[in-house]
Amino acid sequence: MNRNITSIVAGVPVTGAPGGRITSTNPAQASEVVAEVSLGSPSTFVAAARAAREAQSAWADVPAPVRGRAIAHIGRVVEANAESLARLVTREIGKPYAEALGEVREIVDTCDFFLGEGRRLYGQTVPSEMPDKQLFTFRNPVGVVGVITAGNFPVAVPSWYLVPALLCGNAVVWKPADYSPACGAALAELFVHGGGLPDGVLNLVMADGETTFAGLEHALDEGYIDKVGFTGSSAVGARIGELTGRHLQSACLELGGKNPMVVTPTAELDLAVEAALFSGFGTAGQRCTSLGTVIVHESIHDDFVARFDKATRQATVGDPFSDVVFGPMLDGKFAERFEDYLGWTDAGIFCHPTIVDGVREDDAIFRNETFGPLVGVTTYRDLDEAIRLANAPGYGLSSAIYTTEPAEVFAFRRGISAGMVSVNNSTSGAEAHLPFGGNGKSGNGSRQSGVWVLDQFTRWQSMNWDYSGRLQKAQMDVTELTPDESFRLAD
Ligand code: UN1
Repeated sequence: MNRNITSIVAGVPVTGAPGGRITSTNPAQASEVVAEVSLGSPSTFVAAARAAREAQSAWADVPAPVRGRAIAHIGRVVEANAESLARLVTREIGKPYAEALGEVREIVDTCDFFLGEGRRLYGQTVPSEMPDKQLFTFRNPVGVVGVITAGNFPVAVPSWYLVPALLCGNAVVWKPADYSPACGAALAELFVHGGGLPDGVLNLVMADGETTFAGLEHALDEGYIDKVGFTGSSAVGARIGELTGRHLQSACLELGGKNPMVVTPTAELDLAVEAALFSGFGTAGQRCTSLGTVIVHESIHDDFVARFDKATRQATVGDPFSDVVFGPMLDGKFAERFEDYLGWTDAGIFCHPTIVDGVREDDAIFRNETFGPLVGVTTYRDLDEAIRLANAPGYGLSSAIYTTEPAEVFAFRRGISAGMVSVNNSTSGAEAHLPFGGNGKSGNGSRQSGVWVLDQFTRWQSMNWDYSGRLQKAQMDVTELTPDESFRLAD
């Protein structure tokens, strides 16, 4: 089915195309049109933010357990539509169908986690230092959240923002990637219909990056946006961090990675090879958690490379609806960007899996996220050197170590700057209820998923209640006990 897609503000499709029209095509079959899209202008984004602002307080008044039920229903509706949503993901961005089904599962997992949070969203009761006074904490929604997401996980990663943001009582403006508009529109429909969300609680903006940035800038100036969630490149993340910082806001940033995998002499090499293949070349290396560089001990380098090379040569690349390691690049622009790294011009939208052995610390390929099917290999002599090399590019999202030595596991965990560490597992494939996020060029310390993301979408409010009938002054009107610190036990 060919779709016509527009922005949706306060439940109403936006007419016209002030930002122009684009066609979303199947990257595995460029002649196949997936959707025709009418793009919005900066004012579309501002209008969406205003609509969210108007809808937010009524949404926050819906009791949290009822919002939790909305999340439960969204999860069930996504589950009932899993295959058609996964097919759309495969058609629009070329992700192999099995992985696309896994991606849809990740939305359901996120809903399953948060549906009960509506009955918790715990605050605390805290003792006061004075009698007849009680202290409390409450979680309040932040307000209006602007969510801007990438297209490599066009439905799962957006759900990491949308589900907890809505559960916590925020209204949302969501701008999906302009190369995955049909996935974005489908997910928004599942949320609005599945959750029975009132108009304006979830608004959808179709726009390119610069238009979105201009609209966001304006919406922040107008005071319509209280929080931004962004998944994408480190360069754009820095611009968003700077912009939101000017408004004294701290964005939730999930950025790139140059994720290392250390392979030690005690590692089970075939397992390490299998993981390198999956995390290096799965989704054509276009996950933020994709493997960047294998840092292998010099004593096993030749053996590792021989096995990795063999496994890579056997890997099938092709039609993402069949059993392949990876399909096409997500979009033409990623193929072009990737070719810049290799200096190749003939790869087109399908790229070859590439292993670059002997990468050195000052090579561009070692230092930068390539966002394509390319894995570098380098060697180390002792674990300190491996950790230094693993941290050297300055990202800090995901990391992995293959070893059977527990002491090496803990030394690596302690020394690695990454937010996520896998032991005898690939750099990608994080579960949906552990904190997800990075350090350095991978983010600003924010974490998504599980209970940890609640701190992104709520603000703590503390309350003290004095019922003593007088003004008791903190730190001053406090009863003092009289300790005898000179007391010693008799020998
Ligand atoms: C991303 O690439 O932006 O850990 C997210 C993983 C997936 C999520 C990746 N669960 O690879």
